[in-house]
Amino acid sequence: MKPFVYVTRKLPDEITSRLLEKYEVEMWPKEEEKVPREVLLEKVKQADALLTVISDQLDEELFSQADQLKVVANMAVGYDNVDLQAASKHNVAICNTPDVLTDTTADLTFALLLATARRMMEAAEFVKQGQWKSWSPMQLVGTDVHHKTIGIVGMGKIGTVVAKRAAGFDMEIIYYNRNRHEVAEEMLGARYCSFDELLQEADFVVCLAPLTEQTKGMFQREQFQKMKKEAIFINASRGPIINEQALLDALQAGDIAAAGLDVFEKEPIDADHPLLKLPNVVALPHIGSATKETRLAMMETCCDNLDAIFEDRPPKTLVNKELLTFRQ
Ligand code: DGY
Repeated sequence: MKPFVYVTRKLPDEITSRLLEKYEVEMWPKEEEKVPREVLLEKVKQADALLTVISDQLDEELFSQADQLKVVANMAVGYDNVDLQAASKHNVAICNTPDVLTDTTADLTFALLLATARRMMEAAEFVKQGQWKSWSPMQLVGTDVHHKTIGIVGMGKIGTVVAKRAAGFDMEIIYYNRNRHEVAEEMLGARYCSFDELLQEADFVVCLAPLTEQTKGMFQREQFQKMKKEAIFINASRGPIINEQALLDALQAGDIAAAGLDVFEKEPIDADHPLLKLPNVVALPHIGSATKETRLAMMETCCDNLDAIFEDRPPKTLVNKELLTFRQ
């Protein structure tokens, strides 16, 4: 009998066909709507594997009902939606999709930085709304990116590749991270500094840290107040790293100049959220990895991980690596 895989979002036909070669597959039929919790809890009772997305909460309640579950292939590099301890306790392998999305997410992060600094969204609307009546010297002026200082909070794979893009713009690169990143220091001239130094020195503060107990709420009003008044804040990692109310207060009080946000405390953010009313906020719907090539590569990685588990090979991108020993 083929293992049963429950997929929590509708996937493209080419991926479904690949899965169907080896598995019995059931898929939540909607692309734009998340699977209701009660449906997921019901399906997991028969599932040998889950293919999930970041809006699915995988916790003790779910794992304790999942008698047959061997593996979760989570279609994201981040796995803050998964209670890893609970997964390991129930002997469920958790796999993510690193590497394949690094460049794409770095591109989006840098594009968001450029769009925010150069007021591209406002400018595009200005043209579309027929407000462009003449060229004028100070019309829609933004701020330069080249030769400024970028402060990267979280120098992992994506942070390093953002730094590479920044080097191409002749930026000075400073970073704050749990560990020193010698390659970024040697290859890109990145300078390690404390969190406070970064906040004070950077013209662009770019958050790329993963969401953990340590990073949750890392940016409060105090941190925004330490930044330059002209600073631009970019977040392309996870919303809860920022206290959103504090960011709103900081923007309204002029503590910082602008923000570019791809992620939010609550996703989707409510359309009437006060942050979205500010002209100096560029808001995107969590599209860091959203190119056709990369999303398909993420899905293929999920399939590769499922295959590895059911063929008794170690999966390439296992998160709870401790399972490798106690599964043997
Ligand atoms: C990730 O991979 O963690 C992204 O945020 C979801 O695409």
